[in-house]
Amino acid sequence: MYYRFCLLILIIAGSNFACSKSDQTATGSSSGTTTTTTAYADLFIPPAITGTSFNLTLDKSTKQFKTGAATATYGYNGNSFWGPTLIMNQGDDVQINVTNALSDQTTVHWHGFHIPAIMDGGPHQIIDAGGKWSPNFKIKNNAGTYWYHPHLHMKTYEQLAKGAGGFIIIKDPAESALALPRTYGIDDIPMVFTSRRFNTDNSFDISGAYGDYQLTNGTMNAQVTLPKQYVRLRMLNAEIERGYDIGLSDNRQFYIIGNDGGLLNAPISVKRVKIMPGERVEILVNLGADALGSSIDLKAYNSGQSFGFPGAEPATTGDFGSLLNNKDFSLLNIKVGASTTNAITALPAKLANNTYWTNADVTNSRTINITGGQAGSAFTFDNNTYGFTKINQTINLNAIEKWTIVNNNIFGHSFHVHDVQFKIIARSSGVVGDHESGWKDTVYVPLGETVTVIAKFDDFSDGVNPYMYHCHFSNHEDGGMMGQFLVK
Ligand code: C2O
Ligand code: CU
Ligand code: CU
Repeated sequence: MYYRFCLLILIIAGSNFACSKSDQTATGSSSGTTTTTTAYADLFIPPAITGTSFNLTLDKSTKQFKTGAATATYGYNGNSFWGPTLIMNQGDDVQINVTNALSDQTTVHWHGFHIPAIMDGGPHQIIDAGGKWSPNFKIKNNAGTYWYHPHLHMKTYEQLAKGAGGFIIIKDPAESALALPRTYGIDDIPMVFTSRRFNTDNSFDISGAYGDYQLTNGTMNAQVTLPKQYVRLRMLNAEIERGYDIGLSDNRQFYIIGNDGGLLNAPISVKRVKIMPGERVEILVNLGADALGSSIDLKAYNSGQSFGFPGAEPATTGDFGSLLNNKDFSLLNIKVGASTTNAITALPAKLANNTYWTNADVTNSRTINITGGQAGSAFTFDNNTYGFTKINQTINLNAIEKWTIVNNNIFGHSFHVHDVQFKIIARSSGVVGDHESGWKDTVYVPLGETVTVIAKFDDFSDGVNPYMYHCHFSNHEDGGMMGQFLVK
């Protein structure tokens, strides 16, 4: 089929057109008509490691993204981009051995985890080039989709952009008791979204906010065959800055079952869900009524977003431009294959029994203002740029705190807090989205909005080692949009 299409194009376009499987799109044109076809590549499914002891080695690698030279990348455990998925059980004591095979320092942060500050892998837990770091901690989080990534101050953007990152899936008895898809790589698919721009020598351009080419699990033009039944997609936005407004190409309903900190209390039926840098959303898609061999696209419906939505800018080039800006584009082509023997064919009515914090529980409140960003200066919180030895907030152990994040300033941001999972109780626009109604560690704060969250800072106190709160746009974080807090 592909071959025949190529032949046709060759006849129309003449000898100066060559079919290429490695280019993002092959386009031929003649007499004012343009024909475009997409050469798909198999979605990379990161290998999974299960247990209580995990070894991670971050090293340089290369990956062939485009015709010509391979691109210099980073990956954990020999992967050419990204790293293995770590599967952990709630209640386990885990030991992780991280080796840094780079010629640069790094750190590894366990995003979303409730663990001691010294195990957190933030900017203070530096692993020198050639060095090792061996944190250990008890898994206290709920079943859900978490992730690990470098957090070296002023190098987070570069190291993440080169491909350093990985999923962590936590399991617990309550989630395991539900009839949900959970066969990794078959009906339970981890899916990380990002995009990259390339220099003319095919190296990554690590400068602007947005990439020109979308990558799902590091795969350009990704395609996967999924069984004809309910499938679970664990979606992570690991972009530098771009947001995604996700839907399916036939506009069908799908079901949000979880967000950052695990399952929602019940599935929520939607046609679109927004996911911002650092956030996770787990969805179920029903492929049970689809014809075998048919296909459907998971897409980003990013055209026509309002100003301040990262990636809505009209420019196609420059620091805030990209070929994907203000466009709808495909994230994954899903081909429908045969169902499995243990197929999930129904949607559970109930998922969890989360009881969330309310205003009545609050023991202390604080306000954080988004500042800076004027005339090319960096964004900040409360007019303070990040300081390695600066403690911006001190919190009493066991406090239940209400944080109000105020954004009357220029652009939207993704606000992330380490150590805790919080409940979003208010947005000044009046709407807390269904997709963000569970436990969260990252919240999008659009331009012109004030967002209020409540968290309990329990279990771990440390008078010396801080946790971070920061914008999860890694260019903003590196630029100083980060603060430190002690729990003591
Ligand atoms: Cu995923 Cu402090 O970050
Ligand atoms: Cu984090
Ligand atoms: Cu920001």
